[in-house]
Amino acid sequence: MATSTATVGSSAQVHPGEQYNYAIIKKFAIMSVVWGVLGMSVGVYIASQLAWPFLNFDIPQISFGRFRPVHTTLVIFGFGGNALFATSYYVVQRTCQVRLFSPKLAEFTFWGWNLAILLGVVTYMMGYTQGREYAEFTWQIDILIAVTWVAYFFVYLITLLRRTQPHIYVANWFFMAFILATAILHIFNNLAVPISPWSLESYSLFSGVQDAMTQWWYGHNAVGFFLTAAFLGMMYYFVPKQAGRPIYSYRLSIVHFWALVFLYMWVGAHHLHWTALPDWVSTLAATFSILLLLPSWGGMINGVMTLSGAWHKLRTDPIMLFMITSLSFYGMATFEGPMMSLKSVNALSHYTDWTVGHVHSGALGWVAMISFGALYHLIPRLYDTTLYSIRLVYVHFFLATIGIVLYIVAMWVAGIGQGLMLRAFDEFGNLSYTFIETVVFLHQPYVVRALGGGLFLTGMLIMAYNVAMTILGARSEAQPVRSRAGDASAATSA
Ligand code: HEM
Ligand code: HEM
Repeated sequence: MATSTATVGSSAQVHPGEQYNYAIIKKFAIMSVVWGVLGMSVGVYIASQLAWPFLNFDIPQISFGRFRPVHTTLVIFGFGGNALFATSYYVVQRTCQVRLFSPKLAEFTFWGWNLAILLGVVTYMMGYTQGREYAEFTWQIDILIAVTWVAYFFVYLITLLRRTQPHIYVANWFFMAFILATAILHIFNNLAVPISPWSLESYSLFSGVQDAMTQWWYGHNAVGFFLTAAFLGMMYYFVPKQAGRPIYSYRLSIVHFWALVFLYMWVGAHHLHWTALPDWVSTLAATFSILLLLPSWGGMINGVMTLSGAWHKLRTDPIMLFMITSLSFYGMATFEGPMMSLKSVNALSHYTDWTVGHVHSGALGWVAMISFGALYHLIPRLYDTTLYSIRLVYVHFFLATIGIVLYIVAMWVAGIGQGLMLRAFDEFGNLSYTFIETVVFLHQPYVVRALGGGLFLTGMLIMAYNVAMTILGARSEAQPVRSRAGDASAATSA
């Protein structure tokens, strides 16, 4: 095995960009920003369609029904997924002090993943979908994703096996769990029989209650492993790095890891309360959801306490602000989730916008904010430069935070308001409100949500500008000939 003789200590002579494979990370990081801008623009558009339905313009391709999966796919898999590829490839190389295994296979994961997203968007707009939330891709795209994901698994695993460090840093545990669980979830949830080899349509292998159970076993574990465990991997590396402090408790991070991966697998049925599911399955899911509060808050506390002794950094470092705020929203979403999993609370929240508010306190507050923090930390290091403008990072932070608060508060008002209206009875036992009255009530919160989303999107556009200027600035500064490159490749693994 070719081993790396270069260590972090030697990076005074050799820039890490030459010692490690940064080229692939740059591509993923840039695509994360590109899909982020597109996905959030579509988010603001569909939010506006709900407030002002004329925006559907009777054009099927851009109607709410087709644009909604375009939004979720672009933000979760495009923005979030590319940020995860970028940061996981960075973290595994830095913490194992070894170059990424097989640049060709890593390159394949980049093209395979991004092609799948592009094809997904095009097919949804054409009206093709499997009708499974967050798994709407047609069967051919599912196969492409499965192959890409297996390649990702091998790149990551073999890099880990080739490490020059005896220890596997905890962030890698989270990334490995995410890669493994996502492969299993994706493959089993998408088992289907195509109508014909040439058709984009297929029938699920499951039916009835089993179909719903499989879908929400997938759905919640997509939340648990994609939107949570993986971003915790990001958190466990970038928060201590940015704070310049070791993680608060390494022991807690291990307990956090095992408790989280064990508990998440059981909770999917809380999406199916009050349906044809056996009652005990619902109760089991609710019980495990309540238990999930403990490791979730353990992780949050571990991240927040990493700043003990370095709180003053919040006054001068907007990247740290992104990270700490993301942890606060993580704590909030993981308190709200267990509460909503109680059958009595879910009876009110389920068919309302409360769920959408909960989703976005997790998605905007946790997933997007921690990704922004990690990308602002990562991108200048990849290009061996400094950020174009710290002031713009502050502007981004405040726009994003105000945007999230508007979004979530609007959805609480819309969701709880509609939930209460739908269950209000008059003195004769008749419903107090017709359904359409509840829809009319939603208009104002929907306008506020669109406004909040607009602010969040503006922040994202500012980030894209800041990142572009950082990269362009680095290119113009770069030395035409990097004579050290040859030495570096000799010093690192093949
Ligand atoms: C500018 C920011 C955003 C806006 C304005 C926005 C808006 C929306 C809207 C209007 C919906 C449809 C809600 C409905 O069906 O009633 C939605 C759904 C969704 N969005 Fe966003 N979104 C934004 C960012 C994000 C981000 C960054 C993520 C993930 C990282 C995300 C994840 C989701 C998910 C998972 C759903 C489905 C929710 C559910 O089924 O309950 N969104 N979004
Ligand atoms: C302890 C942690 C959590 C628990 C127990 C939990 C629980 C729940 C519950 C009960 C629902 C509503 C199900 C329904 O009525 O249909 C829900 C929806 C959802 N949650 Fe969470 N949640 C947690 C954390 C998070 C986090 C951190 C995110 C991050 C992004 C998130 C994303 C979502 C999404 C996307 C949905 C909407 C699914 C859909 O209907 O399309 N959750 N969650």
